[in-house]
Amino acid sequence: MKHHPARLIAKKRDGGELAADEIADLVSGVVDGTLGDAQLGAFLMAVCCNGMTAAETAALTLGMRDSGVVLRHDRISKPKIDKHSTGGVGDKVSLLLAPLVAAAGVAVPMVSGRGLGHTGGTIDKLAALPGYRTDLSITEFGDVLEQCGYAMLSPSAELAPADRRMYATRDISGTVESIPLITSSILSKKLAEGIDGLVMDVKCGRAAFMQREDDARALMETICATGRSAGVKIAALLTDMDHPLGLALGNALEVVEILEALDGNCPEDLREVTLELGAEMLVLGGVAVDPRAARATLERLWQDGVVRQVFRHNLELQGGDVRVLDDHTLLGRAPVIEAVSAPRAGFVEDVDPLALGQVVVDLGGGRRQPSDAIDPHVGIVLQKQLGDPVAAGEPLAIVHAATTAAWEAARVRLVAAMPVGEERRKRRPVVLDRA
Ligand code: URA
Repeated sequence: MKHHPARLIAKKRDGGELAADEIADLVSGVVDGTLGDAQLGAFLMAVCCNGMTAAETAALTLGMRDSGVVLRHDRISKPKIDKHSTGGVGDKVSLLLAPLVAAAGVAVPMVSGRGLGHTGGTIDKLAALPGYRTDLSITEFGDVLEQCGYAMLSPSAELAPADRRMYATRDISGTVESIPLITSSILSKKLAEGIDGLVMDVKCGRAAFMQREDDARALMETICATGRSAGVKIAALLTDMDHPLGLALGNALEVVEILEALDGNCPEDLREVTLELGAEMLVLGGVAVDPRAARATLERLWQDGVVRQVFRHNLELQGGDVRVLDDHTLLGRAPVIEAVSAPRAGFVEDVDPLALGQVVVDLGGGRRQPSDAIDPHVGIVLQKQLGDPVAAGEPLAIVHAATTAAWEAARVRLVAAMPVGEERRKRRPVVLDRA
């Protein structure tokens, strides 16, 4: 490092503003190891406590982006637009959105993550598709993108490597919850994909990273401002995560929900978020004049089966078994599949996404430790949503479990997570705001 690390850390600790070259120097120290673990932890805590100015956040984002390879897709003349979600329960939008938007002429180079805590990850869902590969080389990634309009890649050590070390350190040092650190972590990886534009899905609610609406809004605004200052077109939706998205929770079950959606059978909330994000992507890419026209195009492509064809083409190119489109049983099934019944008649007064996400993790569908293996077949398929009337003994959900004991443990928690009472509550709109 050119600067003395302790001096830079102390400057941030005392509320000073770091210059762009000082931040670039710190990031180089993260990558080459000249910034030690204690120093990195201290720097992250100073940022967490004192925040960062817009200029500092932008410099950190660009430094982290440039810490590895920044992809270029020169052979592809289409606009290159991606989507990123801050994560939720039942959020399988990427699997549907990428072929949807690709069908309309936008290229989607999508690098996705694994599940984090109770929130699922696109890469884990794709792993439930027999044969599907997300460990593509960067050349293969570009080839798939060129041939079918979208490509899915698991996080690569070559893209934004500074984030890997910084994220791991944040995770163990109480410094995850910082708007500049979240912004630079997300955007550095997305900007390294070589995109022209990005649509952010900032989730808000009990199962979201940002539970309070004003925190989610602040994150949304910082991400938009930082992305724009980095020269990328950016739009954002603030969406509800106080209720699971769609009906299926658990990797293979969520893939089945997507396969059914491709055939036109899609839960309304999932359809709404997907179409709204897709419409923003078409507008950012300049292939539609406004979100209404974009949405009409997407609805037509979906209904006409074009999106299904694009999905099929991508499956073929990434090694997936295309027969799953017509035979969902090829995804396999859990040994114990049984309904959980309502204990009384009334209305479903809550569908707690955090509690249900944790049930899925404990069934084996998520990880408690980064090294845990995932059981793709377990999970929950909701039969009722918030405000639905239910008769005593009628199914609230179907639980897919590896053993009867796991099913029974899940049943008890599911009944508590979906209380039935006299009050008919209404779900808030799934798209809460946009920027
Ligand atoms: N996702 C990321 O990639 N980084 C964060 O800091 C939070 C969510």
